[in-house]
Parts: sequence; C-alpha cells; structure tokens
Amino acid sequence: MKIYVLNGPNLNLLGVREPGIYGSESYADLIQRIEAYAEQAGISVKCLQSNHEGALVDFIHEGFYEGIDGIVFNPGAYTHTSIALLDALKATKIPCVEVHISDVDAREEFRKISYIRPACIATISGHGTAGYLEAIDLLLKKEENAK
Ligand code: DQA
Repeated sequence: MKIYVLNGPNLNLLGVREPGIYGSESYADLIQRIEAYAEQAGISVKCLQSNHEGALVDFIHEGFYEGIDGIVFNPGAYTHTSIALLDALKATKIPCVEVHISDVDAREEFRKISYIRPACIATISGHGTAGYLEAIDLLLKKEENAK
C-alpha cells in the first residue's frame, strides 16, 4: 500500500505558527512521526508540502500516475477556497481523508466550509497532529475491507 500525506500553506511553520492552536511540534518532527508510523504499519508513505495551490494539484496528479492507494490531506486555508483541489480529487478518485489539526467547526464561520469534503471518505478535525495517524488507520482499514 502506497499513500501520500499532503500539507498545504503555512503547515511548514508548525511549531512556530500559533502554537496555542496548532501545537509546538515542528513540521519536521511530525513528518518523522508519520514516516515511523507508516513503516511500522508496513505501508509506503511520501510526505509533501506546498504553499501553492497548483503545486498541490500537481501532487495529486503525480499520485494518480504513481497509482497510490490514498491521500491524507490537510490543505490548510485552501480547504475553504479551492475548487481546483476538489476537482483534482474528483478527477483522480484517490481515496482521501481530510485532516485538520484544529477543530475547524469551532472557529471562524469561514473555516466551517470545506470545498474538498465532498470528495473525501472522511474528515478528522481537532485531534491535533494525531489526526494524521488516525487518517492513515482509516485508509488501512479501507484497504483491508476491499480485500
Ligand atoms: C487547518 C485549519 C485551516 O482553517 C487553516 O487555514 C490551516 C490549518 C488545520 O490544520 O487546523 O492552515 O487546516
């Protein structure tokens, strides 16, 4: 099983960025934890981050051509604005779990809107960075159920 973990704008600043909301763990530490978790689960993971919407679209297309089995996706603020990301997920049909570190439903009104949600199999919001690992578990479960 092969998956991508995609992170959108400003998530490279984890640890520095509003620690009261996003915690004190750095992006590098999070990636290390995700890679260790995936290795122990016996799955191949590629973690990618960009501050640019089109680059995130390109990552999804790349995953499609590589034949990946799932995406764990925190699009950051593009969650609330991007039809292009929704269309990329719909076009490629890669099973995707939407992840947010903070509880987006308990924040500003505009964060309650997710353009990508209709193309996702699940959403995990407000579980901190543990949400990324929970999303991997969901993709694993989906893969096992498909066998
Ligand atoms: C976020 C929530 C978004 O509203 C915000 O723009 C982010 C991070 C989260 O992980 O909680 O950049 O996706």
